[in-house]
Amino acid sequence: MNILILGSGGREHALAWKVSQSKLTGEIYIAPGNAGTATLGTNIELSPNDFKAVADFAIAKSVELIIVGPEEPLVRGIVDYFRSTPSLAHIRLIGPSQEAAQLEGSKDFAKQFMEKYNIPTAASQTFEKEDIASAKAFLKTLKPPYVLKADGLAAGKGVLIIDNIAEAEAQLEDMLVGESFGEASRKVVVEAFLEGIEISIFVLTDGKNYVLLPSAKDYKRIGEGDSGLNTGGMGAVSPVPFADETLLAKIEAQVVKPTIKGIETEGLDYCGFVFIGLMIVDGEPVVLEYNVRMGDPETQVVMKRLESDFVALLTQCADKKLNEAPPIVMRDTTAITLVMVSGGYPEKYEKHKLIHNMQNIAKDITVFQAGTYAKGTDVYTNGGRVLAVTAQDSDLEQARQKALAAAHKIDFEGKYFRTDIGLDLTRERSAYTWN
Ligand code: AMP
Ligand code: GLY
Repeated sequence: MNILILGSGGREHALAWKVSQSKLTGEIYIAPGNAGTATLGTNIELSPNDFKAVADFAIAKSVELIIVGPEEPLVRGIVDYFRSTPSLAHIRLIGPSQEAAQLEGSKDFAKQFMEKYNIPTAASQTFEKEDIASAKAFLKTLKPPYVLKADGLAAGKGVLIIDNIAEAEAQLEDMLVGESFGEASRKVVVEAFLEGIEISIFVLTDGKNYVLLPSAKDYKRIGEGDSGLNTGGMGAVSPVPFADETLLAKIEAQVVKPTIKGIETEGLDYCGFVFIGLMIVDGEPVVLEYNVRMGDPETQVVMKRLESDFVALLTQCADKKLNEAPPIVMRDTTAITLVMVSGGYPEKYEKHKLIHNMQNIAKDITVFQAGTYAKGTDVYTNGGRVLAVTAQDSDLEQARQKALAAAHKIDFEGKYFRTDIGLDLTRERSAYTWN
Protein backbone atom coordinates (compact mmCIF):
# COMPACT_ATOMS: atom_id res chain seq x y z
CA MET A 1 0.00 0.00 0.00
CA ASN A 2 1.12 3.54 -0.69
CA ILE A 3 1.75 5.56 2.46
CA LEU A 4 1.90 9.31 3.05
CA ILE A 5 3.63 10.67 6.16
CA LEU A 6 2.86 14.27 7.12
CA GLY A 7 5.61 16.31 8.79
CA SER A 8 9.29 17.16 8.42
CA GLY A 9 11.13 16.30 11.63
CA GLY A 10 13.23 13.53 13.09
CA ARG A 11 9.99 11.86 14.16
CA GLU A 12 8.85 11.65 10.55
CA HIS A 13 12.22 10.32 9.37
CA ALA A 14 11.99 7.61 12.05
CA LEU A 15 8.40 6.78 11.03
CA ALA A 16 9.43 6.57 7.36
CA TRP A 17 12.43 4.40 8.30
CA LYS A 18 10.25 1.92 10.15
CA VAL A 19 7.49 1.95 7.49
CA SER A 20 10.11 1.27 4.80
CA GLN A 21 10.91 -2.07 6.49
CA SER A 22 7.40 -3.49 6.06
CA LYS A 23 6.55 -5.88 3.23
CA LEU A 24 3.13 -4.23 3.08
CA THR A 25 4.61 -0.88 2.04
CA GLY A 26 4.46 0.29 -1.57
CA GLU A 27 5.47 3.87 -2.30
CA ILE A 28 6.38 6.18 0.60
CA TYR A 29 5.63 9.89 0.33
CA ILE A 30 6.58 12.47 2.94
CA ALA A 31 5.11 15.97 3.01
CA PRO A 32 7.14 18.09 3.23
CA GLY A 33 9.91 15.83 4.65
CA ASN A 34 13.64 16.54 4.88
CA ALA A 35 16.91 15.29 3.37
CA GLY A 36 16.66 12.10 5.46
CA THR A 37 13.13 11.15 4.42
CA ALA A 38 14.13 11.74 0.77
CA THR A 39 16.47 8.73 1.02
CA LEU A 40 13.50 6.48 1.90
CA GLY A 41 10.72 7.86 -0.27
CA THR A 42 9.57 10.90 -2.20
CA ASN A 43 9.31 14.29 -0.53
CA ILE A 44 6.28 16.31 -1.57
CA GLU A 45 6.21 20.10 -1.29
CA LEU A 46 2.90 20.58 0.43
CA SER A 47 1.73 21.77 3.82
CA PRO A 48 0.15 19.21 6.16
CA ASN A 49 -2.34 21.96 7.07
CA ASP A 50 -3.56 22.31 3.47
CA PHE A 51 -6.10 19.48 3.65
CA LYS A 52 -7.32 19.88 0.08
CA ALA A 53 -3.79 19.64 -1.28
CA VAL A 54 -3.12 16.57 0.91
CA ALA A 55 -6.38 14.96 -0.29
CA ASP A 56 -5.74 15.72 -3.97
CA PHE A 57 -2.25 14.25 -3.69
CA ALA A 58 -3.50 11.15 -1.85
CA ILE A 59 -6.11 10.48 -4.55
CA ALA A 60 -3.65 11.11 -7.40
CA LYS A 61 -1.09 8.66 -5.94
CA SER A 62 -3.57 6.05 -4.62
CA VAL A 63 -2.42 6.58 -1.03
CA GLU A 64 -4.19 4.19 1.34
CA LEU A 65 -2.64 5.18 4.67
CA ILE A 66 -1.75 8.63 6.00
CA ILE A 67 0.29 8.95 9.18
CA VAL A 68 -0.10 12.40 10.68
CA GLY A 69 3.16 13.28 12.48
CA PRO A 70 2.53 16.67 14.14
CA GLU A 71 -0.46 17.82 16.19
CA GLU A 72 -1.47 20.90 14.24
CA PRO A 73 -3.31 19.23 11.33
CA LEU A 74 -5.11 17.00 13.85
CA VAL A 75 -6.21 19.91 16.03
CA ARG A 76 -7.34 21.71 12.84
CA GLY A 77 -9.46 18.70 11.84
CA ILE A 78 -7.69 16.79 9.06
CA VAL A 79 -9.35 13.52 10.11
CA ASP A 80 -12.83 15.10 9.97
CA TYR A 81 -12.04 16.55 6.54
CA PHE A 82 -11.28 13.08 5.17
CA ARG A 83 -14.18 11.37 6.96
CA SER A 84 -16.74 13.86 5.70
CA THR A 85 -15.72 13.64 2.04
CA PRO A 86 -17.11 10.47 0.40
CA SER A 87 -14.31 10.19 -2.17
CA LEU A 88 -11.72 10.20 0.68
CA ALA A 89 -13.53 7.95 3.15
CA HIS A 90 -11.55 4.84 2.11
CA ILE A 91 -8.21 6.42 3.06
CA ARG A 92 -6.97 5.34 6.49
CA LEU A 93 -5.64 8.10 8.74
CA ILE A 94 -3.59 7.64 11.88
CA GLY A 95 -4.74 10.37 14.23
CA PRO A 96 -7.83 11.44 16.18
CA SER A 97 -10.78 13.58 15.08
CA GLN A 98 -10.76 17.31 15.82
CA GLU A 99 -12.95 16.80 18.88
CA ALA A 100 -10.64 14.12 20.31
CA ALA A 101 -7.52 16.11 19.40
CA GLN A 102 -8.60 18.63 22.06
CA LEU A 103 -6.95 16.26 24.52
CA GLU A 104 -3.79 18.00 23.30
CA GLY A 105 -5.27 21.16 21.76
CA SER A 106 -7.01 22.34 24.94
CA LYS A 107 -5.45 21.81 28.37
CA ASP A 108 -8.83 22.68 29.90
CA PHE A 109 -10.60 20.00 27.84
CA ALA A 110 -7.94 17.46 28.93
CA LYS A 111 -8.35 18.45 32.59
CA GLN A 112 -12.14 18.08 32.45
CA PHE A 113 -11.73 14.69 30.75
CA MET A 114 -9.32 13.52 33.46
CA GLU A 115 -11.62 14.69 36.24
CA LYS A 116 -14.63 12.98 34.67
CA TYR A 117 -12.82 9.64 34.30
CA ASN A 118 -10.93 9.75 37.60
CA ILE A 119 -7.52 9.92 35.99
CA PRO A 120 -4.92 11.22 38.45
CA THR A 121 -3.71 14.72 37.60
CA ALA A 122 -2.54 17.83 39.45
CA ALA A 123 -5.23 19.95 41.14
CA SER A 124 -6.10 22.89 38.89
CA GLN A 125 -8.57 25.54 37.88
CA THR A 126 -9.14 27.21 34.52
CA PHE A 127 -9.62 30.94 34.16
CA GLU A 128 -10.57 33.46 31.48
CA LYS A 129 -9.95 37.21 31.26
CA GLU A 130 -13.05 38.09 33.33
CA ASP A 131 -11.85 35.81 36.14
CA ILE A 132 -8.49 37.50 36.70
CA ALA A 133 -9.28 38.33 40.35
CA SER A 134 -10.31 34.77 41.21
CA ALA A 135 -7.33 33.45 39.24
CA LYS A 136 -4.97 35.49 41.44
CA ALA A 137 -6.85 34.37 44.55
CA PHE A 138 -6.46 30.73 43.47
CA LEU A 139 -2.73 31.26 42.89
CA LYS A 140 -2.43 32.38 46.52
CA THR A 141 -3.87 29.06 47.73
CA LEU A 142 -1.02 27.17 45.99
CA LYS A 143 2.53 26.66 47.14
CA PRO A 144 5.41 27.81 44.92
CA PRO A 145 6.55 27.15 42.28
CA TYR A 146 3.45 28.14 40.33
CA VAL A 147 2.42 26.36 37.13
CA LEU A 148 0.59 28.36 34.44
CA LYS A 149 -0.53 26.66 31.24
CA ALA A 150 -1.90 28.35 28.14
CA ASP A 151 -4.99 26.37 27.18
CA GLY A 152 -4.25 26.11 23.46
CA LEU A 153 -1.32 25.00 21.31
CA ALA A 154 1.73 27.18 21.88
CA ALA A 155 4.51 25.29 20.06
CA GLY A 156 5.63 23.59 23.30
CA LYS A 157 6.18 26.95 25.04
CA GLY A 158 2.82 27.35 26.77
CA VAL A 159 3.81 26.08 30.23
CA LEU A 160 5.38 28.53 32.67
CA ILE A 161 6.83 27.44 36.01
CA ILE A 162 7.48 30.43 38.25
CA ASP A 163 8.98 30.57 41.75
CA ASN A 164 7.75 33.96 42.82
CA ILE A 165 4.10 34.89 43.43
CA ALA A 166 4.39 38.48 42.16
CA GLU A 167 6.00 37.25 38.95
CA ALA A 168 3.35 34.51 38.62
CA GLU A 169 0.55 37.08 39.00
CA ALA A 170 2.17 39.34 36.40
CA GLN A 171 2.57 36.46 33.93
CA LEU A 172 -0.98 35.32 34.52
CA GLU A 173 -2.24 38.81 33.75
CA ASP A 174 -0.06 38.94 30.66
CA MET A 175 -1.45 35.64 29.43
CA LEU A 176 -5.12 36.37 30.06
CA VAL A 177 -5.35 40.09 29.50
CA GLY A 178 -2.25 40.74 27.41
CA GLU A 179 -2.84 37.58 25.36
CA SER A 180 0.90 36.88 25.45
CA PHE A 181 0.25 33.54 23.75
CA GLY A 182 -2.45 34.98 21.48
CA GLU A 183 -5.63 32.93 21.23
CA ALA A 184 -3.86 30.05 23.05
CA SER A 185 -3.88 31.95 26.36
CA ARG A 186 -7.50 33.14 26.17
CA LYS A 187 -7.90 30.50 28.88
CA VAL A 188 -5.20 29.59 31.37
CA VAL A 189 -4.98 26.48 33.54
CA VAL A 190 -3.40 27.21 36.93
CA GLU A 191 -2.05 24.02 38.38
CA ALA A 192 -0.38 22.67 41.52
CA PHE A 193 3.32 21.91 41.05
CA LEU A 194 4.26 18.23 41.15
CA GLU A 195 7.62 17.01 42.37
CA GLY A 196 8.79 13.73 40.90
CA ILE A 197 10.33 11.93 37.95
CA GLU A 198 8.92 12.29 34.44
CA ILE A 199 8.21 9.49 32.04
CA SER A 200 6.29 9.25 28.77
CA ILE A 201 4.02 6.38 27.82
CA PHE A 202 2.91 5.71 24.25
CA VAL A 203 -0.36 3.99 23.45
CA LEU A 204 -1.87 3.12 20.08
CA THR A 205 -5.67 2.96 20.20
CA ASP A 206 -8.54 2.39 17.79
CA GLY A 207 -10.88 4.14 20.20
CA LYS A 208 -11.78 0.94 22.07
CA ASN A 209 -8.80 -1.41 22.05
CA TYR A 210 -5.22 -0.37 22.67
CA VAL A 211 -1.66 -1.62 22.62
CA LEU A 212 1.14 -0.24 24.76
CA LEU A 213 4.30 0.88 23.05
CA PRO A 214 7.41 1.23 25.21
CA SER A 215 8.09 3.92 27.76
CA ALA A 216 10.61 6.68 27.07
CA LYS A 217 12.20 9.58 28.87
CA ASP A 218 12.94 12.80 27.05
CA TYR A 219 15.24 15.64 27.99
CA LYS A 220 13.62 18.99 27.27
CA ARG A 221 16.19 21.52 28.49
CA ILE A 222 18.99 22.82 26.29
CA GLY A 223 21.78 22.51 28.88
CA GLU A 224 23.65 19.73 30.65
CA GLY A 225 22.09 18.66 33.94
CA ASP A 226 18.63 19.76 32.73
CA SER A 227 19.48 23.46 32.80
CA GLY A 228 18.55 26.42 30.63
CA LEU A 229 15.70 26.98 28.21
CA ASN A 230 13.10 24.46 27.16
CA THR A 231 13.46 22.95 23.69
CA GLY A 232 11.47 20.56 21.52
CA GLY A 233 13.62 17.79 23.04
CA MET A 234 17.38 17.23 23.20
CA GLY A 235 17.42 13.47 23.55
CA ALA A 236 15.49 10.40 24.64
CA VAL A 237 16.00 6.95 26.13
CA SER A 238 13.79 3.86 25.88
CA PRO A 239 12.96 1.88 27.93
CA VAL A 240 13.15 3.81 31.19
CA PRO A 241 14.91 1.61 33.77
CA PHE A 242 12.88 2.80 36.76
CA ALA A 243 9.62 1.92 34.96
CA ASP A 244 9.56 -1.62 36.30
CA GLU A 245 6.63 -4.02 35.95
CA THR A 246 4.93 -2.77 39.10
CA LEU A 247 5.00 0.85 37.99
CA LEU A 248 3.93 0.01 34.43
CA ALA A 249 1.03 -2.06 35.76
CA LYS A 250 -0.05 0.91 37.91
CA ILE A 251 0.18 3.26 34.94
CA GLU A 252 -1.88 0.91 32.80
CA ALA A 253 -4.57 0.41 35.45
CA GLN A 254 -4.80 3.98 36.75
CA VAL A 255 -4.11 5.99 33.61
CA VAL A 256 -4.20 4.05 30.31
CA LYS A 257 -7.35 1.99 30.87
CA PRO A 258 -9.51 4.88 32.16
CA THR A 259 -8.21 7.09 29.34
CA ILE A 260 -9.25 4.60 26.64
CA LYS A 261 -12.53 3.95 28.46
CA GLY A 262 -13.15 7.72 28.51
CA ILE A 263 -12.45 8.00 24.78
CA GLU A 264 -14.88 5.15 24.12
CA THR A 265 -17.58 6.42 26.48
CA GLU A 266 -17.41 9.93 25.02
CA GLY A 267 -17.74 8.37 21.54
CA LEU A 268 -14.57 10.10 20.37
CA ASP A 269 -13.36 9.05 16.92
CA TYR A 270 -9.77 8.08 17.67
CA CYS A 271 -7.43 5.84 15.65
CA GLY A 272 -3.97 6.90 16.60
CA PHE A 273 -1.36 7.51 19.23
CA VAL A 274 -1.94 8.78 22.75
CA PHE A 275 1.32 10.05 24.20
CA ILE A 276 0.88 10.50 27.93
CA GLY A 277 3.30 12.69 29.85
CA LEU A 278 3.45 11.51 33.47
CA MET A 279 5.07 12.64 36.69
CA ILE A 280 5.79 9.78 39.08
CA VAL A 281 5.11 11.26 42.50
CA ASP A 282 6.07 8.99 45.42
CA GLY A 283 5.67 5.96 43.18
CA GLU A 284 2.26 7.04 41.87
CA PRO A 285 1.60 8.14 38.26
CA VAL A 286 0.05 11.58 37.76
CA VAL A 287 -0.81 12.86 34.27
CA LEU A 288 0.89 16.10 33.18
CA GLU A 289 -0.48 16.16 29.67
CA TYR A 290 -1.88 14.24 26.73
CA ASN A 291 -0.53 14.49 23.22
CA VAL A 292 -2.43 13.01 20.31
CA ARG A 293 0.63 12.05 18.28
CA MET A 294 4.04 10.48 18.84
CA GLY A 295 6.81 12.47 20.52
CA ASP A 296 9.90 13.89 18.89
CA PRO A 297 12.60 12.63 19.68
CA GLU A 298 10.86 9.75 21.57
CA THR A 299 9.69 8.22 18.26
CA GLN A 300 13.31 7.77 17.21
CA VAL A 301 14.08 5.47 20.17
CA VAL A 302 10.73 3.68 20.08
CA MET A 303 11.01 2.89 16.34
CA LYS A 304 14.61 1.76 16.76
CA ARG A 305 13.46 -0.92 19.23
CA LEU A 306 10.20 -1.99 17.56
CA GLU A 307 10.41 -5.43 15.91
CA SER A 308 6.73 -5.78 14.96
CA ASP A 309 5.47 -4.87 11.50
CA PHE A 310 4.48 -1.26 12.04
CA VAL A 311 2.35 -0.96 8.91
CA ALA A 312 0.34 -4.09 9.83
CA LEU A 313 -0.21 -2.61 13.28
CA LEU A 314 -1.33 0.79 11.96
CA THR A 315 -3.68 -0.84 9.45
CA GLN A 316 -5.31 -2.88 12.20
CA CYS A 317 -5.63 0.27 14.25
CA ALA A 318 -7.29 2.23 11.44
CA ASP A 319 -9.63 -0.71 10.77
CA LYS A 320 -10.59 -0.76 14.49
CA LYS A 321 -9.24 -4.28 14.87
CA LEU A 322 -6.41 -3.70 17.31
CA ASN A 323 -7.84 -6.52 19.44
CA GLU A 324 -6.68 -8.87 16.65
CA ALA A 325 -3.11 -7.51 16.59
CA PRO A 326 -0.42 -9.95 17.68
CA PRO A 327 1.51 -8.91 20.81
CA ILE A 328 3.97 -6.09 20.15
CA VAL A 329 7.55 -7.33 19.89
CA MET A 330 10.27 -4.96 21.09
CA ARG A 331 14.00 -5.58 20.98
CA ASP A 332 15.31 -6.22 24.46
CA THR A 333 17.78 -3.36 24.13
CA THR A 334 18.07 0.20 25.30
CA ALA A 335 17.88 2.81 22.58
CA ILE A 336 19.19 6.33 23.02
CA THR A 337 19.03 9.34 20.77
CA LEU A 338 21.11 12.52 20.99
CA VAL A 339 19.71 15.55 19.22
CA MET A 340 22.35 17.64 17.46
CA VAL A 341 21.20 21.24 17.19
CA SER A 342 22.37 24.46 15.55
CA GLY A 343 24.36 26.70 17.91
CA GLY A 344 22.05 29.26 19.55
CA TYR A 345 18.93 27.03 19.47
CA PRO A 346 16.27 27.37 20.95
CA GLU A 347 16.91 31.06 20.37
CA LYS A 348 18.50 32.55 17.25
CA TYR A 349 20.62 30.20 15.15
CA GLU A 350 22.10 29.98 11.68
CA LYS A 351 21.16 27.59 8.86
CA HIS A 352 22.79 26.37 5.64
CA LYS A 353 25.86 24.76 7.24
CA LEU A 354 27.34 21.77 5.42
CA ILE A 355 27.10 18.57 7.49
CA HIS A 356 30.24 16.38 7.41
CA ASN A 357 30.90 12.73 8.25
CA MET A 358 27.31 11.54 8.35
CA GLN A 359 28.09 8.58 6.10
CA ASN A 360 31.20 7.39 7.95
CA ILE A 361 29.82 6.36 11.31
CA ALA A 362 29.31 2.94 12.91
CA LYS A 363 26.87 0.67 11.06
CA ASP A 364 24.50 0.15 13.97
CA ILE A 365 23.93 3.90 14.46
CA THR A 366 20.90 5.43 12.76
CA VAL A 367 21.07 9.15 12.08
CA PHE A 368 17.52 10.46 11.83
CA GLN A 369 17.43 13.85 10.17
CA ALA A 370 15.23 16.79 11.18
CA GLY A 371 16.16 20.29 9.99
CA THR A 372 18.12 19.34 6.87
CA TYR A 373 18.02 19.74 3.10
CA ALA A 374 20.12 18.19 0.36
CA LYS A 375 21.92 19.80 -2.55
CA GLY A 376 23.27 17.03 -4.75
CA THR A 377 24.95 14.59 -2.38
CA ASP A 378 25.63 17.27 0.25
CA VAL A 379 23.34 17.75 3.24
CA TYR A 380 22.93 21.19 4.91
CA THR A 381 21.37 22.35 8.18
CA ASN A 382 17.91 23.85 7.84
CA GLY A 383 16.57 24.24 11.39
CA GLY A 384 17.26 24.27 15.12
CA ARG A 385 17.10 20.55 15.68
CA VAL A 386 19.22 19.06 12.90
CA LEU A 387 19.91 15.37 13.56
CA ALA A 388 18.92 12.67 16.06
CA VAL A 389 21.85 10.28 16.44
CA THR A 390 20.34 7.01 17.59
CA ALA A 391 22.11 3.95 19.02
CA GLN A 392 21.06 0.79 20.81
CA ASP A 393 22.77 -1.79 22.93
CA SER A 394 21.88 -4.36 25.58
CA ASP A 395 23.59 -1.97 28.02
CA LEU A 396 22.45 1.64 28.42
CA GLU A 397 25.96 2.98 29.07
CA GLN A 398 27.30 1.22 25.96
CA ALA A 399 24.43 2.64 23.90
CA ARG A 400 25.24 6.10 25.29
CA GLN A 401 28.92 5.79 24.42
CA LYS A 402 28.12 4.64 20.86
CA ALA A 403 25.77 7.57 20.29
CA LEU A 404 28.27 10.02 21.80
CA ALA A 405 31.10 8.75 19.59
CA ALA A 406 28.95 9.27 16.49
CA ALA A 407 27.77 12.72 17.59
CA HIS A 408 31.38 13.80 18.19
CA LYS A 409 32.34 12.62 14.72
CA ILE A 410 29.50 14.19 12.74
CA ASP A 411 30.31 17.83 12.22
CA PHE A 412 28.77 21.13 11.16
CA GLU A 413 29.61 24.70 12.08
CA GLY A 414 28.10 25.60 15.46
CA LYS A 415 26.96 22.04 16.28
CA TYR A 416 25.80 21.41 19.85
CA PHE A 417 24.47 18.38 21.69
CA ARG A 418 24.05 17.35 25.32
CA THR A 419 26.58 14.77 26.49
CA ASP A 420 24.53 13.77 29.56
CA ILE A 421 21.44 12.26 27.91
CA GLY A 422 20.66 9.01 29.78
CA LEU A 423 23.41 9.57 32.33
CA ASP A 424 20.90 9.96 35.18
CA LEU A 425 19.41 6.58 34.30
CA THR A 426 22.71 4.71 34.44
CA ARG A 427 23.15 5.44 38.12
CA GLU A 428 21.26 3.76 40.94
CA ARG A 429 17.79 5.24 41.09
CA SER A 430 18.35 6.33 44.69
CA ALA A 431 21.18 8.51 43.44
CA TYR A 432 18.90 10.20 40.92
CA THR A 433 19.14 13.92 41.31
CA TRP A 434 20.17 16.82 39.18
CA ASN A 435 20.55 19.22 42.05
P1 AMP B 1 3.25 19.92 29.58
O1 AMP B 1 3.32 20.57 28.22
O2 AMP B 1 1.95 20.07 30.28
O3 AMP B 1 3.78 18.51 29.58
O4 AMP B 1 4.35 20.68 30.41
C1 AMP B 1 5.67 20.81 29.97
C2 AMP B 1 6.62 20.47 31.08
O5 AMP B 1 6.36 21.29 32.20
C3 AMP B 1 6.46 19.04 31.59
O6 AMP B 1 7.18 18.13 30.83
C4 AMP B 1 6.97 19.18 33.00
O7 AMP B 1 8.38 19.15 33.02
C5 AMP B 1 6.54 20.55 33.40
N1 AMP B 1 5.24 20.52 34.12
C6 AMP B 1 4.00 20.62 33.60
N2 AMP B 1 3.07 20.57 34.55
C7 AMP B 1 3.73 20.44 35.71
C8 AMP B 1 3.31 20.33 37.09
N3 AMP B 1 2.03 20.37 37.44
N4 AMP B 1 4.27 20.18 38.01
C9 AMP B 1 5.57 20.15 37.67
N5 AMP B 1 6.02 20.26 36.43
C10 AMP B 1 5.12 20.40 35.45
N1 GLY C 1 9.39 15.49 23.02
C1 GLY C 1 8.17 16.07 23.41
C2 GLY C 1 7.15 16.20 22.37
O1 GLY C 1 7.25 15.67 21.27
O2 GLY C 1 6.14 16.86 22.63
